Amino acid sequence: MAAADQSPAALGVGIIGCGNISPTYLSHLSRFKMLRGVATADIIHSRAEASAAMYGLQALSVDALLARPDIDLVINLTPPLVHAEICHRALAAGKHVHTEKPLATDRADGLKTLALAAERGLRVGAAPDTFLGAGSQTCRALIDNGAIGQPLAATAFMLSRGPEPWHPDPEFLYKPGGGPLLDIGPYYITTFVNLLGPVARVSAGARASFPERVVGSGPKQGQRIVVETPTHISGTLEFESGVIATLITSFDVSSHRLPPIEIYGSEGSIAVPDPNTFGGPVLLHGRADDDWRSMPLTHGYDDNSRGLGAADMAVGIQNGRPHRASGALGAHVLDVMLSLLESAASGQRLTIASRVDRPAAMAPGLKDGEID
Ligand SMILES: NC(=O)c1ccc[n+]([C@@H]2O[C@H](COP(=O)([O-])OP(=O)(O)OC[C@H]3O[C@@H](n4cnc5c(N)ncnc54)[C@H](O)[C@@H]3O)[C@@H](O)[C@H]2O)c1
Repeated sequence: MAAADQSPAALGVGIIGCGNISPTYLSHLSRFKMLRGVATADIIHSRAEASAAMYGLQALSVDALLARPDIDLVINLTPPLVHAEICHRALAAGKHVHTEKPLATDRADGLKTLALAAERGLRVGAAPDTFLGAGSQTCRALIDNGAIGQPLAATAFMLSRGPEPWHPDPEFLYKPGGGPLLDIGPYYITTFVNLLGPVARVSAGARASFPERVVGSGPKQGQRIVVETPTHISGTLEFESGVIATLITSFDVSSHRLPPIEIYGSEGSIAVPDPNTFGGPVLLHGRADDDWRSMPLTHGYDDNSRGLGAADMAVGIQNGRPHRASGALGAHVLDVMLSLLESAASGQRLTIASRVDRPAAMAPGLKDGEID
C-alpha cells in the first residue's frame, strides 16, 4: 500500500474477510489516493496476519478493527451469508461499509443494512463495481447517446460447470444464499440496471441438475457437497422502460456459445462485455451496418479495478454527492434475484417492490486513480 501519495482526507480502510478475493482488493487499494489501508481482520486470524504482512497493514480481530478511530470505511469480503452481520456491526460502530455482492442473502437483512446506514448518516455500498469500468461505461454512453435507438430487448447468459474446479472452498455456493444467480447474477443484473434502469416484473424456471458436487482443488479436494439451491435459473426480466430481457445463470452447463450480454434497440444492437470484467470488447451493429463494429473504449478503468466502487464512495463522501455502487442498487438487485427464485418456486410472475434510479454515468477519459 503506497502511503506517500495519499490525500490527507483519505478514508482509513479496514478489510474484513481475507480469503480468495482479498488480495485483489488489497493490491488495488494503493491506486486510489482517497483510500488508505489500515488493517485486516478475519475469523481465521492467521489469514488476517498473512494479508496484513503482505500489504504493510495491521492484523486485528473484527472487534478491534471496528473499534479503531482511524478506520472510516469497512470493506466486507466475508462469504455472502455473513455479509449482513458484518455490515450491521460496522454501521453500529460508526463506519461506512462497502460489501461484496450480494448485499445480503435475504431482503430483511439487506433492508436493515440500508436502514442502519440511513439512521446513522453513514454510507453503504455493494459490489459489483465492474459496471463503473471502461466496458460498461462505454456501452452506457453509446446507449444514452442513441447508438442503438430505443432499447427494446436484451439477453444475458452466464453458463458454466460451476466453481468447484478452481475455488478451494466452494460449499457456500451450493447452499441457500449461493447458486449461480446470487453469486454471479449481481454482475449481470447490476449491468442491466445501469444500462436500462430498474426492473418492474420477473418470472423464472429453475432446477438443480446435479444433487452433489465434488471439490476439485486445495486442501478440501475430493470433499462432497450436497446441493441445496437451484443451479440453473432461466428468467425473464421486464424493465420499467418496457425492455424485456432473458437471463440464464447456470452451474450446470459444460459448454455453450452464448454471448454474455446483448441489448437490442430500434436502430441497432450492442454486445456488452463480460460484466465480471472492467474492460471490453464493445461491439456495435447499427441497422445499416453489414457487420459488428468494434468500438473504442471511451472511459477509464479497463483493467481489473476492484475497489473502484469503494473509492467512488469515498469521493462521494468527500464531495457530498451520491456514490454509484450503492446499497440501494444492491438491494434492488437482491430483490430481483430473490424474486426470480420465488417465481421459479411458485410459478407466479412477480412484481418487484423495490426501485432504484440509474446511478450517474462516469465521466469519459478518467486517468487511473481519478473518479470525478
Ligand atoms: N473468489 C472470487 O473470485 C470472488 C470474486 C468476486 C467477489 N467475490 C465475493 O467476495 C466474498 C468473499 O469471497 P471469497 O471467494 O474470498 O470467499 P472465501 O471463503 O475465500 O473468503 C472469505 C473469508 O471471510 C472469512 N470470514 C468468514 N466469516 C467471517 C466473520 N464472521 N468475520 C470475519 N471473517 C470471516 C473467512 O475466514 C474467509 O477467510 C463473497 O461475497 C464473494 O461473493 C469473490
